[in-house]
Amino acid sequence: MADKYEQVLELAKRRGFIWNSFELYGGTAGFYDYGPLGAMLKRRVENIWRDIFVINEGYYEIESPTIGMEEVFIASGHVGGFSDPLTECQKCNEAFRADHLVTDVVDNPDTLSADELTEVITKNDIKCPECGGKLGKVYEFNLMFKTSIGPGGKRAGYLRPETAQGMFVDFPRLLKFYRDHLPFGATQIGKAYRNEISPRQGVIRLREFTQAEAEIFIDPRDKTHPKFKEIENIELNLFSQEGQAAGEMQKISLGDAVKNGIIAHEFLAYCLAMTYRFLIRVGVSPDKLRFRQHMKDEMAHYAADCWDAEILSERFGWVEVVGIADRTDYDLKAHAKQSGKELSVYISYDTPKKVEKFVVKPDMGVLGPMFKGKAGKVANALKALKSEELSGDVIEVTVDGEKIKIDKNSVKFETVTEEIHGENIIPHVIEPSFGIDRITYSLLEHSYFEEEAGKEEGIEEEEVEEKRIVLRLPPEVAPVQAAVLPLLSREELIKPGMEIVGKLRKAGILVAFDDSGTIGRRYRRNDEIGTPYSITVDYKTLEDSTVTIRDRDTMKQVRASMSDIADNIYDLVYGGKSFEDAGKKI
Ligand code: ATP
Ligand code: GLY
Repeated sequence: MADKYEQVLELAKRRGFIWNSFELYGGTAGFYDYGPLGAMLKRRVENIWRDIFVINEGYYEIESPTIGMEEVFIASGHVGGFSDPLTECQKCNEAFRADHLVTDVVDNPDTLSADELTEVITKNDIKCPECGGKLGKVYEFNLMFKTSIGPGGKRAGYLRPETAQGMFVDFPRLLKFYRDHLPFGATQIGKAYRNEISPRQGVIRLREFTQAEAEIFIDPRDKTHPKFKEIENIELNLFSQEGQAAGEMQKISLGDAVKNGIIAHEFLAYCLAMTYRFLIRVGVSPDKLRFRQHMKDEMAHYAADCWDAEILSERFGWVEVVGIADRTDYDLKAHAKQSGKELSVYISYDTPKKVEKFVVKPDMGVLGPMFKGKAGKVANALKALKSEELSGDVIEVTVDGEKIKIDKNSVKFETVTEEIHGENIIPHVIEPSFGIDRITYSLLEHSYFEEEAGKEEGIEEEEVEEKRIVLRLPPEVAPVQAAVLPLLSREELIKPGMEIVGKLRKAGILVAFDDSGTIGRRYRRNDEIGTPYSITVDYKTLEDSTVTIRDRDTMKQVRASMSDIADNIYDLVYGGKSFEDAGKKI
């Protein structure tokens, strides 16, 4: 029997959600197209993400190039270290993730070096899973797609492996945009590229995929969140480092998780809450969602702490769909070093601070005649000295590469009290990073149901099919939001039907008009693409201007007026209106 993944993919391909890319040429692993319904579904998911992060949190969206200059990825650490261990079969040349081949013989294979993996493969006589051939020496394979910018291949570039770097590189501009105040956030929804070694997990592991990322720049001295109170009672399934060691997941409120030190600080916990709200709103089942903390040896090179939102899939088990990382000041420091520009924020104190400062005061009356034209440079070199460098009777400084010795009596030094009004700090970054494709697949899987059809209002006995496939997508996520179905394909019913279509389109509702085949078939066609409401025009419509609205999930119907049909459907889709309130029960 087909498993859930096959069932979902069969439906997705047949009805225009997801297709293999380049099918005409036989396709290649790691690339998928979204068909008409899939592209609309994905856009709706992205727009809900925008509603939460951009509109409600005020983290404005930016758009930066998907190709990056080499310097960007040298600084970020991707050129040096964004790799997976690769081994190739010496017989059939097939490539494999070496750490994936040894999962049955060692714990945590992703923590092993290439040499250690080669040793494990040799010792355990692990062979090519495809042809049984001998596997070659493991080496690190960089996952970035390399390209060159401009003709002649002189300037190297890379397709970005994450959207995040666009926000880091724009930090000085963003800081000005946000008028030099922390915290602030910037977001981006766009393509990311990774040349995955052997993407054998279908739509889960892609070589081109969409990320939605927020980089939130915060004051490292204050990781509290102003709206923490609003989310502290949300209970999540947390699988902390300690929990994983003990094999125990816990359901706990975010308030208690922060209080007990399970989640390091409020800002991180707030991001977990936003992630939870987003995933539930787009249709992920709460009982198939957990937050797993990265183990210490699993953390990305930039992260001090990281929690993954993982979704349970029938075929793939727990799949990471979101990574929520505390990236500290790693990226800003790295870009400051690479670019030679200062990437910091001046923070004013509420009340000025008094600090004791050690100052060196060179005596120019002595230094001037002694060093003539160089005296200014010597004085500056002396001023830069620290107290511990002034301990001997003779002080040494280097000016223009020349070592110069000066008698201590030519220099005065003292400790003075100064009032300072602020300081430059490097913000820390909290980053929720969402994989939109994995989320879109997961919500299709979680909303896919095959059930006994049973009898239904308005459908003749002989029309009832044994099985109904239904996608129980949340109405605001469903690609087609309403279907208008004249009971019969006759002009007198088609005309009011088209009138309703016009009204719904004007209200921004994506509506399908379908007058072919029996009404039962048309309901089923809409059930399997997740259309939440079907509006049927019948002969009673011609008498009293009412129609029936059918609810996809319960298959119940109500009779409602045609005059306010657009508001009615809009409120059902977006306003949280219950189906019971949509019309008169029939
Ligand atoms: P994995 O361990 O599954 O390779 P990752 O830890 O490399 O994932 P991140 O680098 O944290 O993933 O990327 C952030 C998000 O981007 C992930 O949570 C995931 O949803 C998405 N993502 C990463 N790699 C892929 C991919 N190859 N295909 C589809 N989505 C991806
Ligand atoms: N921005 C996090 C990641 O893609 O790794």
